[in-house]
Amino acid sequence: MARSKARIWTCSLLLVCFLVVLIVCVVMLAKSPCPEGGFTKGAVAADSETCSKVGRDILRSGGSAVDGAIAALLCTSVINPQSMGLGGGTIFTVMDGSGKVKIINARETVPKMFNSNLMEDCSKTPSWTPVGQWIGVPGELRGYELAHRLYGKLPWARLFQPTIKLARSGFPIPAVQARFIPFLENTNGSLRKLYSDKDGNLLKAGDIMKFEKLADTLEILAKQGADAFYTGQIAENFIRDVQNEGVKLTLEDLASYEARVSDAWNVSLGEYQIYLAPPPSGGALIGLILNIMKGYAPNPESMMGEERAQTYHRFVEACKFANGLKKHLRDPQFNSGAVAEKITEESFADHLRSLISGGRSHSAQYYNVTPYLDSMGTTHVSVLAEDGTAVAATSSINLIFGSKVYSPSTGVILNNQLTDFCGKAEHIVAALYCTMMSSSGW
Ligand SMILES: *[C@@H]1O[C@H](CO)[C@@H](O)[C@H](O)[C@H]1NC(C)=O
Ligand SMILES: *[C@@H]1O[C@H](CO)[C@@H](O)[C@H](O)[C@H]1NC(C)=O
Repeated sequence: MARSKARIWTCSLLLVCFLVVLIVCVVMLAKSPCPEGGFTKGAVAADSETCSKVGRDILRSGGSAVDGAIAALLCTSVINPQSMGLGGGTIFTVMDGSGKVKIINARETVPKMFNSNLMEDCSKTPSWTPVGQWIGVPGELRGYELAHRLYGKLPWARLFQPTIKLARSGFPIPAVQARFIPFLENTNGSLRKLYSDKDGNLLKAGDIMKFEKLADTLEILAKQGADAFYTGQIAENFIRDVQNEGVKLTLEDLASYEARVSDAWNVSLGEYQIYLAPPPSGGALIGLILNIMKGYAPNPESMMGEERAQTYHRFVEACKFANGLKKHLRDPQFNSGAVAEKITEESFADHLRSLISGGRSHSAQYYNVTPYLDSMGTTHVSVLAEDGTAVAATSSINLIFGSKVYSPSTGVILNNQLTDFCGKAEHIVAALYCTMMSSSGW
């Protein structure tokens, strides 16, 4: 009897210990900032696992968030070259270790020689012919250069190594890239050649793809810096190639290109401060959507039961109004920034919220949305580093494979970013000789 009592006591004690351990575990898990196998030190989200890992390895070797973002973007330029690359442009939102946020704008600019009747050709989609007239001056590398100068920790060349290796030794074409190769079907330029086997058939998923010319270019850029692309031998080869394709870009366009740094805009959201990229980027529209939603005083119940559908409805309606306002965002370098500032005022959000009807939506005119071919392609990289720095970077050559103009001697695919004026700008204003994009962000 005494023995079985002792056994019961022992079992009870064990049970209590087990419960205590369980409770401690649950509490620790609940308190952990990243439950379910999350990351506690840093994280990189690129649009492919390969490039997220490239960025992560840079963080692990002591890189800042900017270092990780640049390496991940360079990698994306070969893993998803239909979306972005050195022939495009980018916008970085960067938070330093002290919490200060800056915006680096390296989007394309309008070349000195542009077709003044460009807007008349907007309706001639989807072929966008002649293709070359939609090409903007690439800003991508000047953006990386400026970001690295301000926030980089690792040597510049180190950021290029993983991508040079990938581009040189080749890799099986991933499914996503393969899905867009058929977009080259009706072309017969040098980009089609790059993507064709020796019988002239387009490559497919799993075929080995090498970007050898791009690898050469990246090697030079790693050693010599961005200047090699904008003023050096690469610039000369690049301009000769694209002029052969009827593109009016000049050495002067490249040499005069400058990336810009500015302060971020912000909106407060409860205990959070949201930082936005000011015009010509579309951050003001994100601010508007957040301000509209803030007025509904959302709480955890807003995403449950019946309320959930209504919350989504309100969000979608807010997005439609924001979309309708895209065309009013202008580049402050050439236009007044007043409209974008008004868009982020809470009173303006209050007004639009009053136009959102519960349980129904309206025609496109109600939201002032002009139909236009929205951009496909484009990529985004988000990086959080252990030192408290963070980056959100969007990069694009605009549509799938951009203009589909390829420079065979440098391996660079050119953007067709000027199509972004379509449906938004009435005309393109030449200021001095270089007109910045006035489209909204992505
Ligand atoms: C292919 O190239 C030829 C000349 O090189 C040109 O006349 C023709 O229009 C091109 N075809 C396509 C589909 O681009
Ligand atoms: C938000 O922006 C305003 C200026 O527009 C600035 O005065 C303020 O310091 C910013 N707040 C934060 C937290 O950065």
